[in-house]
Parts: sequence; C-alpha cells; structure tokens
Amino acid sequence: MTEPYKHKAVPALDVFKPDLFKDKVVFVTGGGSGICYGVTETLMRFGAKAAIVGRKAERLRAAAQQLERDTKSKAIATPGDVRKIETIQHAVKQTLDAFGKIDFVICGAAGNFMAPIEGLSSNAFRAVVEIDLIGTFNTVRATMEEVKKNHGSYVHISATLHYSGLPWQSAASSAKAGIDAFSAALAVELGPFGVRSNCIAPGLIAGTEGADRLVPQGQEEMAQGFIPMQRIGQKEDIANAAVFLFSEAASWVTGQILVVDGGSVHFRGPFLPYPDAVMDTQSFKSLFPGSKM
Ligand code: COA
Repeated sequence: MTEPYKHKAVPALDVFKPDLFKDKVVFVTGGGSGICYGVTETLMRFGAKAAIVGRKAERLRAAAQQLERDTKSKAIATPGDVRKIETIQHAVKQTLDAFGKIDFVICGAAGNFMAPIEGLSSNAFRAVVEIDLIGTFNTVRATMEEVKKNHGSYVHISATLHYSGLPWQSAASSAKAGIDAFSAALAVELGPFGVRSNCIAPGLIAGTEGADRLVPQGQEEMAQGFIPMQRIGQKEDIANAAVFLFSEAASWVTGQILVVDGGSVHFRGPFLPYPDAVMDTQSFKSLFPGSKM
C-alpha cells in the first residue's frame, strides 16, 4: 500500500519577508504558553515587540525572557486575568509605558476540560465562558482605542468544537461560538476605522495543554490517522496563519474564521466512542484522569 504523504510544517520565515512586523507591537493574552507562545515567537522573529498576558506572573516572566533570547526582539510580561478587566487595563498601560502603542492583539487565553453536562456545575460552565468569551470581550474593550489609533488588527483563537454537538465540550463549544460571533460584530463596528478582526480555529496542535487534555491517553496515533493531512498540527501552523492575517496581504480579510486543522473538520469521526460515552460516562473516566466524573 502507498504510504500517506505528509507535508512538513514550514516556518513562516521561509515564506514571508524578515522585517514584516518591524515597529509593530502585539498584545497577547495566553502568550505565556501553548499556541499563543508559538504565535508570539514567530511575530517577534519578524520584528514585532510583544506584551504577553497571563495569570502566573513568574511563568510569564520566564516566558518573556525566553522569547527575547530566542528572537532578539523585545517582550514584556504583563500579568493579568482576562476575567478581570481592570487587570487587562493595567496590562495595556504597562504595554504603552514600555512600547508606546499597540497594533495587534491576540485574544488567546482559554480554559477547558472534558466533562459531560451532568458533570458541570453552574460555576464550572461559567468559569470556561468567563475565561474564553468574556475574557475576549474584556481584552478587546481594554485595547480597542489603541488599536483604532494604529488601524491595527485582532486575531482571536477560536476552535472547531462547536461546528457540531461535540460531547463533553459543551462549555468551551458555547464560549468559542460566542467568540466567532463577537469577532464578526467587531469586524463590522471597527472596519470603518481601518481595524480588522479575524479568528483562527486550530485543530489538534502538538505540545499544547489543549491536546494533552482533549486527546484520550494512548490514542494520539489514531487521532493523527483521522486528519486528512496525516499529521497533528504544530504551533508553526497556527503562527503562519496569524502572520498572514496580521500582514497587509490580508488587508481585505475581516470577520473571517480561518480553520487551520489539516482538513479535520471535513472528516469527523466521533471524538469519543458513541453512544457509550454519553450513556455510561463512568466507563471513560480512565481516559481523562483529571475528570471529576
Ligand atoms: N470537570 C468538571 N468541573 C471542573 C473540572 C473538571 N475537569 N475542572 C474544574 N471544574 C470546576 C470546578 O469544580 C469549579 O466548579 P465548583 O466551584 O462548582 O466546584 C469550576 O470548574 C471552577 O474551577 P476552579 O479550579 O475554581 O477555576 P479556576 O479559575 O482556577 O480554573 C479552569 C479554571 C477550570 C478552566 C482550569 O481548568 C484552568 O485554569 N485552565 C487554564 C488552562 C487551560 O484550561 N488550558 C486549556 C486550553 S484548551
């Protein structure tokens, strides 16, 4: 049998000009780790300066130092919790004090866990919606005056979870659907000010907390086989999409959702064994050791 062909993830620097984002400042929630750390690193390699926002100040500072070492550009840690707008307003102020402006914003802070609806308290559902959806609103609200001044651009990290009724993901699916809707409204309200707003909807990305939490243990290889492009995504894949969306090449692209998932959305097998996963939730507890069910 012919082996499946696998494209490699290509760094954006092999494709776009190296000073693409010289003099640009990017404000990134969730930039201390995971996908948004990878996107920030790539934007910095193109010359952008970055302010990364997250709850854990120590981890954030270490991440900013690492970004500076790896990219030779500037990064600052601006601790904050997207659920509390005053902390984001403070992070914006720190960014303006350090860099004088904000051109680009990535709304990437997210919280998620696997749980059936009957395993969610009202507070659990609220926690996810507050981080993902209200956190996106708070970030936009705290940055929009600055972004308008510079005719800048927003990229929100969405998901593909909500394109169908995925079991055990009701809170995150609801929140991400809200982010897509909010981004479209933002695109329309700020378009006349020269500001764009787009979402990236990543598929399964290696080395992220999301992948660790959402892929059942021992099923990584099977998950890969269901992806038409035959590999799990890399952080570069998402970074490359962000480079395009922030670049002038996308100046007529706004209110869009760019799905970057190796084609997975067009080939959806059940994520959990069905209907067993909803009939007997206890039987899958062992796949997700953190689960409270
Ligand atoms: N299943 C069901 N409920 C859960 C849960 C799980 N696996 N994990 C947390 N909860 C519930 C808690 O019990 C609590 O509800 P309660 O007050 O009724 O008991 C509620 O969610 C809030 O949890 P808490 O730990 O107090 O909130 P937090 O603000 O410290 O954490 C989370 C927020 C729950 C989203 C946490 O997972 C988090 O901080 N995640 C950030 C990183 C992340 O999720 N990354 C993945 C991105 S895809």
